[in-house]
Amino acid sequence: MQNTNTYIVSNWKMNGTAVLMHEMVKAFIENPATKNDKAQSTNTTPRWVFCPPALLITETKQNYPEIILGGQDCHQKRTGAFTGNISASLLKESGATYVIVGHSERRHYHNESNALIAEKACMAIKCGLIPIICIGESEETYNNGLTLDFLKKQLDESLCGLNKEQHFIVAYEPIWAIGTGKTATRTDIEKVHSFLRNQLPDTPLLYGGSVTASNAYDILTTPNVNGVLVGGASLKIDEFKTILEAARMCDTAT
Ligand code: 13P
Repeated sequence: MQNTNTYIVSNWKMNGTAVLMHEMVKAFIENPATKNDKAQSTNTTPRWVFCPPALLITETKQNYPEIILGGQDCHQKRTGAFTGNISASLLKESGATYVIVGHSERRHYHNESNALIAEKACMAIKCGLIPIICIGESEETYNNGLTLDFLKKQLDESLCGLNKEQHFIVAYEPIWAIGTGKTATRTDIEKVHSFLRNQLPDTPLLYGGSVTASNAYDILTTPNVNGVLVGGASLKIDEFKTILEAARMCDTAT
């Protein structure tokens, strides 16, 4: 994992428009904070991974080929009679490099299980995508001090069938921090990420949950945090710019 840039993954969820996509991308395309400083190294990663609604992926890629894109979910089967679903293979063909799987909103609103998420992650890899596999505990689990026990099971089951050498990313997003304005403390994040690092020595580890311009640098400089997954703040150009700049500061400091 040496020579990797800090990842800033923007997850627009079911928000945004084509107009905002053009504004956002134009605001960043020439910004040094978006560029891949380590492009010459053998193990390069992008700094900004943009995950708009799937309907915007093709238009974004066609207009701005250098932007690295991700889907927000994919189906576990390659193709088939699954009305309304999105296949990993078509995400790839549309220009995506990454795909988020197992987001807590998918787990909650679509009853997605760890086993299903593991299938999705495997299919994503088979189709040439890099899955960003999300895990995170509820507020009740957190308050009961059971976070690490819960995450261990969720991680083991959500990664079932993958091997640690494969290219994937894990994102820790405590459910109680998503869209609430409550961010996990640096101590909480450090504890979870050190636990994850012991399990996954070479896997990029992201934190998500109410990341903003004001807390991004602090989170990004927490040990074993390789980037952030940003929801609400990624829809606001000025705020997102500060987050990207925080990542660039971290990269130039290393
Ligand atoms: P917020 O940044 O809006 O809390 O969302 C986090 C998230 O769910 C990113 O995937």
